[in-house]
Amino acid sequence: MAGLPNLTVIDHPLIRHKLHLLRDRTTPKKLFRELVDEIATLMAYEVTRDLVEEEVQVETPLERTKGRRIAGKKLVIVPVLRAGLGMVEGVLRLIPSARVGHVGMSRDEESLQPMEYYFKVPAQSEVRRFIIVDPMLATGGSAAAAIEGLKGRGADDITLMCIVAAPEGVRRLGRDHPDVPVFTAALDRELNDHGYILPGLGDAGDRLFGTK
Ligand code: PRP
Ligand code: URA
Repeated sequence: MAGLPNLTVIDHPLIRHKLHLLRDRTTPKKLFRELVDEIATLMAYEVTRDLVEEEVQVETPLERTKGRRIAGKKLVIVPVLRAGLGMVEGVLRLIPSARVGHVGMSRDEESLQPMEYYFKVPAQSEVRRFIIVDPMLATGGSAAAAIEGLKGRGADDITLMCIVAAPEGVRRLGRDHPDVPVFTAALDRELNDHGYILPGLGDAGDRLFGTK
């Protein structure tokens, strides 16, 4: 993307349609959850486009032929709690054998700084590919902290998948973690004074879990 080399916007008509419903303040939480889940599945299809494959022989009922199967690093999906949880099942639907790590981050409402309260990911980080999932990339503080936590445990192949991103967060990750590609369904305009994305969709965690 021009000026944001780390960013890919996945702008498929199905995703755009589901996203406009997600943004709608009147969308009830059952539908909100379903939409986050469905968008995650659609995005996972694109995010995994570069997976390494290998050739294999396969016997059809009629003859022997060649096929291709996924090889290379094992995948780990890493939701940033809480809102990232809403995307996990959607990705697992396409990659059912993936492992799942969990990173708990809570953004302080005043300082907007992330506070880590949980970190549990599969061992052997250096031989795995990590896909961090979190619907919202605002200041980028939570995503940067999750990436630092993974790198500190040996990970060197990390992708971030979000649904709505602010330019501020994308730029921050481009500066601090230029090796981490960022995929989003939408690049929004800006952050407001409280660190919320405009136009955005509000507080993703609260809308997923009904906590407000
Ligand atoms: C939200 C969101 C991201 C973070 C984005 O989580 O899910 O993790 O804010 O903001 P940032 O880019 O400025 O760090 P929040 O901390 O509100 O926690 P929650 O998911 O438990 O609601
Ligand atoms: N977290 C959210 O859930 N929404 C925003 O707009 C910003 C951070």
